[in-house]
Amino acid sequence: MSEILTVQNLTKRFGGLTAVDGLSFSIQTGETLGFIGPNGAGKSTVVNLMSGYLPADEGRIIFDGTDITNKKAHERAHLGIARTYQIPRPFPEMSAFMSVTAAVIAGKQRLNQSFEDAGGEATHYLEFVGLFSKRNILARDLTFYELRMLELARALATTPKLLFLDEVMAGLNPGEATRAVDMVVRAKEQFALTVFWIEHVMAVLIEAADRIIAIHYGQKLAEGTPEEVVNNDTVIEAYLGKGWKQYA
Ligand SMILES: Nc1ncnc2c1ncn2[C@@H]1O[C@H](COP(=O)(O)OP(=O)(O)OP(=O)(O)O)[C@@H](O)[C@H]1O
Ligand SMILES: [Mg+2]
Repeated sequence: MSEILTVQNLTKRFGGLTAVDGLSFSIQTGETLGFIGPNGAGKSTVVNLMSGYLPADEGRIIFDGTDITNKKAHERAHLGIARTYQIPRPFPEMSAFMSVTAAVIAGKQRLNQSFEDAGGEATHYLEFVGLFSKRNILARDLTFYELRMLELARALATTPKLLFLDEVMAGLNPGEATRAVDMVVRAKEQFALTVFWIEHVMAVLIEAADRIIAIHYGQKLAEGTPEEVVNNDTVIEAYLGKGWKQYA
């Protein structure tokens, strides 16, 4: 296996708070890498740094052999990096169709692509996530689950190699959460993705992840197979709690 992305000594400070503190790890091509830790551990900040939504204070980010540390978010998107947000960020006044079409066009830097072609591709992604019948609905009128699926469709529409998922299940009821997880697993297969997946529901990552990294206060606590990480005493102490298996 080769590394698709490597971060070295990644560091991000917000005023006096060091949210990400000298973090180093690699994502292997084709894997599903779970990323866990307590609230405020720095997980979303790591995604913001890797996807270019925030500049790093220190450290390097290498994607597919290219140093992307100083590249902008849209440049990273063109190279094949996509992400979803913990809290969906739709364009409220745009239809689902327009929103995904815009992602098709923006993601490939094919500004001369015909609107019809882009729309055709968008339809494919809307069908994939089950939103075809909602294609003409404005984002502001979609349910939370549908917004999550719209986010996923927008991310897929940029034809990424590497997808960062920042909590797919948060805010969904159990039935929707199960459907969302199934959708991610199918998307990984269908589009040959490498997936970096933040989730608080351990049972899902134990099932879906090849490896898990746990962080706390922006530093790595543990890294290994799901079984190794969830049985790691430091991870249990800092995050999972001794009784976690009862709730998993
Ligand atoms: N833009 C920002 N400005 C200031 N502080 C921030 C900013 N983003 C995150 N933080 C702080 O950095 C720390 C890490 O936040 P982050 O959102 O990365 O945590 P997280 O691990 O994703 O948590 P959760 O599981 O609750 O989503 C927190 O203390 C948070 O308040
Ligand atoms: Mg977060």
